[in-house]
Amino acid sequence: MTPFPFNTVRRTVVEQGGSQRLGDLASSILGPASQTRKALIVTDAFLAGSGLLNPARQSLRDAGFSVFEFTGVLPDPSEAVVQAAVSQAQSEGVDLVLGMGGGSSLDVAKIVACLALPGTALKLPDLYGVESVRATRLPLVMVPTTAGTGSEVTSIAIVTTGESTKAGIVNTALLADLVLLDAQLTIGLPPAVTAATGVDAMVHAIEAYTSLHRKNPLSDMLARQALQLLSSNLLRAHANGTDAAAREAMLLGAMLAGQAFENSPVAAVHALAYPLGGIYHIAHGVSNALVLPHVMRFNRSACANLYAELATVVLPAVQGSAEARCDAFIAHMADLTARTGLPQRLRDCDIAADAIDALAAAAMGQQRLLKNNPRPVSLDDARAIYQAAW
Ligand SMILES: NC(=O)c1ccc[n+]([C@@H]2O[C@H](COP(=O)([O-])OP(=O)(O)OC[C@H]3O[C@@H](n4cnc5c(N)ncnc54)[C@H](O)[C@@H]3O)[C@@H](O)[C@H]2O)c1
Ligand SMILES: [Fe+2]
Repeated sequence: MTPFPFNTVRRTVVEQGGSQRLGDLASSILGPASQTRKALIVTDAFLAGSGLLNPARQSLRDAGFSVFEFTGVLPDPSEAVVQAAVSQAQSEGVDLVLGMGGGSSLDVAKIVACLALPGTALKLPDLYGVESVRATRLPLVMVPTTAGTGSEVTSIAIVTTGESTKAGIVNTALLADLVLLDAQLTIGLPPAVTAATGVDAMVHAIEAYTSLHRKNPLSDMLARQALQLLSSNLLRAHANGTDAAAREAMLLGAMLAGQAFENSPVAAVHALAYPLGGIYHIAHGVSNALVLPHVMRFNRSACANLYAELATVVLPAVQGSAEARCDAFIAHMADLTARTGLPQRLRDCDIAADAIDALAAAAMGQQRLLKNNPRPVSLDDARAIYQAAW
């Protein structure tokens, strides 16, 4: 077997209603030397005002924590948002950071845990890049409220650095001490966000399974199980948000997909989706859905066998040659995104045909991701994929 590493978080708890005992769970990761017990919840204004976090707040107080909150996270968080959260953590002198929310809140919390560590000399720009510094951090807990990014189990945080530019931090210090998957927190997720984030998670599983680099038996197992959970529960969770079993399956599936792509990275779907988010501020999951079937058709010649293997996961009754099963899988994914009402074409998102050259040029900047694609993607290829998606 080809040697491979596997990285994930230290401890995971999957428990409906588990945020009611978050205080005890969080205490368990703090050493006895930690006496001050000041906890910072990093979240966004909507979640902070929704009442959803009340059981967690109460539980933290019951366990003896003073609870502080940074509620200024915005989608695709900017450097200014990150700096504001770090400043608050430093001025309160917190000794525990909890990210509670979607991928945006989790990403900010991860960075805060590094930069608010007392005595650290690190500043935000030092962290950009892949393992650019040896960072350490405050104790860190991740509680996702969307079932999508898998950020709770990745060593990645994405920061918006300009009008249309993002920078990635990849650092093993961002792997949390504790992840809590409490599906009760996802019950109120609106159908459109359920669909977009769910498709994002499915793309993580598909791209991890076909990644050219670091694909390994564990990431394969996780990707297959993730795809099975996500594909059989997306429509249920979308149609009936209060279906707690479907919500829990989605949350678990998204986390497993996150563990898969943490160890077998995503590729051209994400590379071509990022410019749609950066330039047109289209939500991450919607951008993925727009390019997914077109990138899959492009990749078909390079990984039909792998797509055929995944076809048997999502369509157990599928028959025929590898090519036929591969085509059934691509058609199924396109159909799934259509049935959740996600936009199907770039033109549906107010993107003009003459924007394609700029999008293709921007996608070429994502070499960190493109190099993982099973088939090399040239500028002309990117243009043709966007054209097909238009
Ligand atoms: N770190 C990683 O590995 C990784 C991977 C992919 C994407 N990302 C980042 O994650 C972000 C996207 O995350 P996201 O898709 O989870 O969206 P998000 O965190 O931006 O949240 C989207 C919206 O959903 C709302 N919301 C969240 N939970 C809710 C709930 N339970 N009920 C009702 N509304 C709820 C939020 O208030 C917000 O308005 C982007 O910044 C992206 O760059 C990170
Ligand atoms: Fe993603």
